[in-house]
Amino acid sequence: MRAVRIHQYGGVDTLKLDTIDKPSINDDDVLIQVNAAAINPVDWKIREGYLQAFIPYELPVTLGWDVAGIVTEVGADVTDIKVGDEVFSRPAIHRDGSYAEFIAVKAEEVAIKSPKLDFSEAAALPLAGITAWQCLVDVADVQPGQRVLVHAGAGGVGHLAIQIAKAKGAVVVATASASNQALLKELGADQAVDYSKAPLAEQIDAVDIVLDTMGGEIQQNSWALLKDNGILVSVVDQPDESVAKANNARSAFVFIEPSRRILEELNTLVDEDKLRPIIEHRFTLETIAEAHLQSQSGRTRGKIVVDVN
Ligand SMILES: NC(=O)c1ccc[n+]([C@@H]2O[C@H](COP(=O)([O-])OP(=O)(O)OC[C@H]3O[C@@H](n4cnc5c(N)ncnc54)[C@H](OP(=O)(O)O)[C@@H]3O)[C@@H](O)[C@H]2O)c1
Repeated sequence: MRAVRIHQYGGVDTLKLDTIDKPSINDDDVLIQVNAAAINPVDWKIREGYLQAFIPYELPVTLGWDVAGIVTEVGADVTDIKVGDEVFSRPAIHRDGSYAEFIAVKAEEVAIKSPKLDFSEAAALPLAGITAWQCLVDVADVQPGQRVLVHAGAGGVGHLAIQIAKAKGAVVVATASASNQALLKELGADQAVDYSKAPLAEQIDAVDIVLDTMGGEIQQNSWALLKDNGILVSVVDQPDESVAKANNARSAFVFIEPSRRILEELNTLVDEDKLRPIIEHRFTLETIAEAHLQSQSGRTRGKIVVDVN
C-alpha cells in the first residue's frame, strides 16, 4: 500500500511516499481502508521532532491521526464493528497513522460515522471534535447560559468548539482576524471578536469558560477575562495553577485521548444538524508537504483533508 512516512525528523522534505506492506491487526483491532485523512498541527510538530520526549517513535512512522473509511478486516475479539462498516476515528497517536491506504486501529477507538457525513467530513471531525468536547463538556462541564470564549474560532478545534458550545446552550464569544469575522457568525458565535482591533479586555465582557487554543501571551491575557471561579482550559500550554488561584479561577490542560463515546456524541450533534466540519483545504498523499505548510501557516480555516482513496 502507499503510505506517507518520515524516516527522520525535520522539514517537509522528510515526508516520503513509500510503498509498504498493509498493516497486520491485533485481536482487538480493525483494519480500515482509508478514504480520507485529516491534517492537524500535531502532525507537523511530530514531524519536526518537537514531541520526541513525549512520544518516542521508532522511525519510520506513518503520520496522520484522523481517519474515515471502510472496515475490511476485524480482529478475533471484535464483536461490535463488522467488515463493510463506514467508520471514523482518532486513533492512538503512538501507532502508525492515517496517511496511508490502510490503517490498523483498536476497535474501541472507532465509531460508525453518521450517514449525514461524507468520508471527508468524517475525517475532519475526530481529533479536533474530541478535543473540543473533552475541554468544554468533560472538563469545563459547560452549562446552558454560561459564557464561553473560544480563541481561534476559525481554526480546526475552534470552529467545532463554537458549534458544540452553542449546542450545549452556551453564549459563545469567539476570536479571529478581520477576514474570518463572518465565518464566526455563520458558525453560530453570539459575538465575533477581531483580536487585531483592540485588546480583548476592551471588547469582551467576563466569561465562565475560556478555551485556550493559542497559549503564551493569549493565555496570560485571558485570566482577566474570566468571572470568579471561571475555568481556563488549554490544549497548548499547561496553565500555571498559582496564576489561576491568584485570579480566583480554575485551570486545566487537556491532551486528547481516543474516545468512541465522544465520536458518538459528535455523531448525535451531526444528526441534529448542530455540528458540521468545514473543509477549506484539500490535498492528496502526493501533496502532503503542501498540506503541512498550510497547517504551519497558522491561517487554516476549518480543516485540511487528505483524499486517499
Ligand atoms: N492538547 C491537545 O490534545 C490538542 C488537540 C488539538 C489541537 N491542539 C493544539 O491546539 C492548537 C490549535 O489547533 P487547531 O487545529 O485549531 O489549529 P489551526 O486549525 O491551525 O488554527 C488556525 C487558526 O488559528 C487562528 N489564529 C491564529 N492566530 C490567532 C490569534 N492570535 N487569535 C485568534 N485566532 C488566531 C487563525 O485564524 P485567523 O487567520 O483569523 O487569525 C486560524 O483560523 C494547535 O497548537 C494544536 O497543536 C492540541
